Amino acid sequence: MRVLVTGAGGMLGAEIVEQLAGHEVLAHDRHVGDLRDREQLEPLLAGLDAVVHAAALPSPLSAAEPEVFGNNVDATFQLLDAAGRAGVKRIVYVSSLSAVGLAWSSRPQSPVFAPVTERHPYVGDDVYGLSKLVGELIGETVSRRWGSEVISLRFPFIGTGERLRGHLEYVQRDPGADRASLWSWIDTRDAGRAVITALTARVEGHALVNVAAPDTTSLVPTVELMRRYHPTTRLDGPLDGFAVPFSLGLSRELLGFTPVHAWRPMNGGT
Ligand SMILES: NC(=O)c1ccc[n+]([C@@H]2O[C@H](COP(=O)([O-])OP(=O)(O)OC[C@H]3O[C@@H](n4cnc5c(N)ncnc54)[C@H](O)[C@@H]3O)[C@@H](O)[C@H]2O)c1
Repeated sequence: MRVLVTGAGGMLGAEIVEQLAGHEVLAHDRHVGDLRDREQLEPLLAGLDAVVHAAALPSPLSAAEPEVFGNNVDATFQLLDAAGRAGVKRIVYVSSLSAVGLAWSSRPQSPVFAPVTERHPYVGDDVYGLSKLVGELIGETVSRRWGSEVISLRFPFIGTGERLRGHLEYVQRDPGADRASLWSWIDTRDAGRAVITALTARVEGHALVNVAAPDTTSLVPTVELMRRYHPTTRLDGPLDGFAVPFSLGLSRELLGFTPVHAWRPMNGGT
């Protein structure tokens, strides 16, 4: 498979490139050019089987707010629209659970219901979550406009090793500190595996899929966390034990994807 990977110099992009060993990979990052520059972009897209779009400013704090929104949305539009026009059949867009609007909202928000599905209404007020949500709409538009198959993967906090350990310490010191992200996470290696799986999964049009570890980062059972920090949320599922309060049914059914890396010793953590 001939694949263009954007954000290839970044944390997740580098992992995706590594997992694509054996394929013909075009690793794109700012050293190749800015994705917002359509003229530079178009020659890179000829003869590709797939595009993985992982480039973005990955939080509302990464730059001034207009730059975060402008960069993420414009880069996604230029790349996905040009890829569709060039006949690229498969596009995997790395989105974020922030697109629901909970994670970075300036006001404390609670989900309307949990587990939070891909159909949960948008409740956000921050530029990063909005930029990822608009990116998903761009993916949907490109699938209709050019006939590409587009999969948008909504990821939680991504980390492994030191970065993950630091995050676990932060959450476990004060579970309330991560209430907005619903204590969700995924190991960087599993996030990479989900992207690889999405390159060949059977889909039509645009598919939006939550991808996360099945458990939380917390030592407190999930129902207790939800009652304490999101008392207004309607609980639609059992949320047994430490189950993450995001719905993962589609990632299992559509992608056939299950994470393998755990942090909890009882799960044989790695
Ligand atoms: N880090 C997380 O925990 C997390 C969680 C959920 C989703 N995501 C998403 O995952 C993706 C990767 O995140 P990351 O943490 O690896 O970020 P990162 O900052 O490590 O890497 C992103 C890369 O994108 C490149 N880039 C950004 N804008 C560009 C542009 N206009 N032209 C060319 N290159 C550009 C940057 O140079 C950088 O190398 C992003 O789309 C992010 O929104 C990240």
